[in-house]
Amino acid sequence: MASDFYQNKIKNYIMQMPSLPTSVTKVIEVCNNPKTSPVDLDKVISLDPVLMGRVIKLINSAYYGVQNKITNLVRAIIMLGLNTVKNLALSTAVLDKLSDKSSFKALNMEGFWRHSLCTGVVAKLIAKERKIDNKQLDEYFAAGLLHDIGKIPLNNIVSDDFIKAMAIADSEKIPLYLAEKRTFDMDHTDVGGLIIEAWRLSGAIADTIRYHHSLELYEGEYKDIIMTVIVADNYANKNGIGFSGCLYPEKVPSEYWNALAIPKEWLHQIDDIVNSEIEKASIFLKIKE
Ligand SMILES: [Fe+2]
Ligand SMILES: [Fe+2]
Repeated sequence: MASDFYQNKIKNYIMQMPSLPTSVTKVIEVCNNPKTSPVDLDKVISLDPVLMGRVIKLINSAYYGVQNKITNLVRAIIMLGLNTVKNLALSTAVLDKLSDKSSFKALNMEGFWRHSLCTGVVAKLIAKERKIDNKQLDEYFAAGLLHDIGKIPLNNIVSDDFIKAMAIADSEKIPLYLAEKRTFDMDHTDVGGLIIEAWRLSGAIADTIRYHHSLELYEGEYKDIIMTVIVADNYANKNGIGFSGCLYPEKVPSEYWNALAIPKEWLHQIDDIVNSEIEKASIFLKIKE
C-alpha cells in the first residue's frame, strides 16, 4: 500500500484529536517567560478548577512525598518550581487526551503506560544520581513518560498494520521503529512530531518525542535529557517492565554512557526501587478518576 495512504490517515486522525486545554497552553506560555513569578502562574492555574485540583492532588501524592499537606498553590509553586508545575500540567493534559482505554487496539494500554512510567522514573533516577538541579528532575520524568506517544495514533488508527510491524520487529529481531518505517514509511517519532505540531509544543519533551531514536541528527539544547531517556527506555525494554511493542531495542552507544558518566552496573542498583517509584508515579494516570 502506498505510504501516502498511511500518512494521510494518520495526519487526519491527529488533526481531529482534541486540542490541549487553553489553560495548559497558557501555563506553558507563562512558564517559558523568565520573568514569570509564582503568583503569575497561580493566577493562570486558578482559572481552571480542574487543573488546579489535579495540581494540588499530585503535589500531595506519594510521588512528591511532601511532608505536610499543601493546599495553597503559590506555596506549592515556590516549593516545586515553575518548571515542575508546568511539566505536571502538561503531562496530565496529554495523558487525559491519550489514555482512552477503548481506543487501544494493538498494544495493551496498561503495558504501554507502564513502559512509559518506567522510562520516566528511570530517567529521573539517573538525573538525580547525576546531581541535576532538583527543579529540572521532572523534565526528565515527563520526557520519559511521554517519549513514545507517537505510537498511540499508530496503535489506534492503523492497528492491523501496527501489529504487522511488531511481528516484523519480532521475527527479524530489529527495533520496532525500524519495522514501522518499513511498514508506514514513517515511525512513531515522526507521528509524535505531528502531535507536537498539532499541539504547538516545544522544548525538551517535544524534542525527546521526536529524537529519541535519532539523537545523531539532533542539534538542539536538550541532548542530555534525550540521551537520558534513551538509556531509561532501553532499561524498561531490557527488563520487560511494561511493554510498548519493542522486544529488540537498539544497543545504547557507549558514548552515551560516557557522556552521562553513569556506569552500566549502576543501573542494576536501582532495580529494587524502580517498581515502587512506578507505583508512586502511576498517580499521573489515575489523576482523572
Ligand atoms: Fe520509541
Ligand atoms: Fe519506549
